[in-house]
Amino acid sequence: MRDDKIWRNHRKMIQPTFNQKILQSFISIFQRNSILLTKTFEKEINGPEFEISPHVAFMSVSNICETSMGVSVETQKEDVEQFYNFSKRVFYVLFKRLIQIWLHSDLLFSMSLLAKSFNGYVTFIHNFTDEVIQKKRETLKIKSDDIEEDCPKMRKPTLDFLLQLSDKEHFTDKEIREEVVTLITAGSDTTGRTMDFVLFMLAIHPEVQEKVYEEIFSVYGSDDSEKNPVKFEDLHNFMYLERVIKETMRLFPIVPFIARLVLEDLELDGQTVPKDCSAVILVLALHRNEKIWPDPLKFDPDRFLPEEVNKRHPCAYIPFSFGPKDCIGRVYAMISMKVSIITLLRKYILKKDEITEVKNIKLKMETILLCSKPITLRIEKR
Ligand code: HEM
Repeated sequence: MRDDKIWRNHRKMIQPTFNQKILQSFISIFQRNSILLTKTFEKEINGPEFEISPHVAFMSVSNICETSMGVSVETQKEDVEQFYNFSKRVFYVLFKRLIQIWLHSDLLFSMSLLAKSFNGYVTFIHNFTDEVIQKKRETLKIKSDDIEEDCPKMRKPTLDFLLQLSDKEHFTDKEIREEVVTLITAGSDTTGRTMDFVLFMLAIHPEVQEKVYEEIFSVYGSDDSEKNPVKFEDLHNFMYLERVIKETMRLFPIVPFIARLVLEDLELDGQTVPKDCSAVILVLALHRNEKIWPDPLKFDPDRFLPEEVNKRHPCAYIPFSFGPKDCIGRVYAMISMKVSIITLLRKYILKKDEITEVKNIKLKMETILLCSKPITLRIEKR
């Protein structure tokens, strides 16, 4: 576990790379990858239901590799896929270690087969990232010392900012690598799987999908995404879509629990949670608690109208966690999901052969929350 002081330094290092100007500059990447996703879906028009996750996952990992490292999936498709698969497996092993108590011991874990494959995945991830960092350092050396002054509006991946900062702040390549790997692993599957759930909810709630489309039509009319792509300044018009995404994350918080170490005795409802104990907050249970959310399994985006939000405790809804360790990529995630959903819905109507009720959707938990069966949808041309 990362020491608190180290975490604080890392957070300080990465925070500035998530400011609005930088996120705004990523929009063209989100647009392009969303258009590629709609093209991938083309062959499914009017066909039977198909599994959406691999396509959506590829788009979200493409977004994150490009915005964090400047690695384009078009040129390094295989490496990016490998990176993504291995990072998923790393999480899987960590999850196994968490639930199989005998693997908590470093010694027993190091003797297990899991450790062998784990080390292989980690080595690949490190080598790949190190290579990107090294190449990037060389390119930055060749270019002007201060790219920012030359082209203030130029889009730069997070890694470029970190490398430039590293000269002033003396970050090592290892620290930078850790930051980049954390971003990719924390940002790709979370966003991709949340998108899957949003598309699923839209397909089983056609009236909600229609309302989202009305919002889209009011901004773009019947223009297509290649002629008139989604722009950053358009996004504030999509408040209903935002509520749909939030309601999806209430019912399906992709990070279903958050663990913390209790640093001092904590009084809770007349009970003491002792210092040094691990505490787990069950986000999924909180988000489906009927004392806070009447009729909790009803999909109702209007729970997130400002007047409704004001009635609730700020911690009633924590898909991105809460407090100093909350998700640094929450705005990034919201922007990228909005761009992709708008781009898809401009072209397609999402359908399910059978409408399932939320209460019948079976879930499973790996490191993140998943549907126990793959999510499949059918699409028709709009
Ligand atoms: C729907 C998408 C996302 C969800 C639901 C989500 C959720 C979360 C949650 C719950 C945490 C806190 C975990 C904890 O407290 O133990 C977290 C942390 C984090 N997330 Fe996200 N995340 C999402 C997308 C992203 C994206 C797109 C990025 C980066 C581009 C990102 C980067 C991070 C990082 C770096 C942390 C660690 C922050 C720290 O320790 O200071 N996340 N995320």
